[in-house]
Amino acid sequence: MPGPHWFFRFMYDRESAAWGRRRDEPEHRDLVERIADEFANVVAPPGPVADLGCGPGAHALALARRGYEVVGVDGAPRMVEVARTPAGRDEVDATFDVHDLSAPLRFADASFGGVLAILALQHLPHPAAFIAETRTPSLSPSVRAEVNG
Ligand SMILES: C[S@@+](CC[C@H](N)C(=O)[O-])C[C@H]1O[C@@H](n2cnc3c(N)ncnc32)[C@H](O)[C@@H]1O
Repeated sequence: MPGPHWFFRFMYDRESAAWGRRRDEPEHRDLVERIADEFANVVAPPGPVADLGCGPGAHALALARRGYEVVGVDGAPRMVEVARTPAGRDEVDATFDVHDLSAPLRFADASFGGVLAILALQHLPHPAAFIAETRTPSLSPSVRAEVNG
């Protein structure tokens, strides 16, 4: 059950540095790398791809290191700041934007070859609408055909 609309921003802004550190721990790094590998089994680089609800940006950066053109999107501005920090430090080419995922995405239809949304859906008031938006119109026609059978 999602909290009030503003609550995720308050909570995750406060927790942004801690989330960044957590995703840097060895077992988290391992998990992130495995998810990026699984993603690569479905969507070939260079994408472009999106990490929606990207938090500190660990998955987006793992994909960028694999050669994807990545945009990470999160509604908590301090999370996005944390995500941008390793991107700058390691000279990994990824873009991070602040956007509330409960509003329509600011990307044109068929902008992406694939999207990740890790641990983000539970916060959204209308997850089915979000899935519908990311699952079909945002995917390129070839990927959409594969997903839909
Ligand atoms: C549990 S964290 C997961 C972060 C990242 N996906 C990861 O696995 O490291 C959930 C993230 O979703 C973001 N989020 C929650 N509700 C959101 C919304 N309505 N719009 C944009 N981001 C949202 C939070 O700010 C937070 O960064």
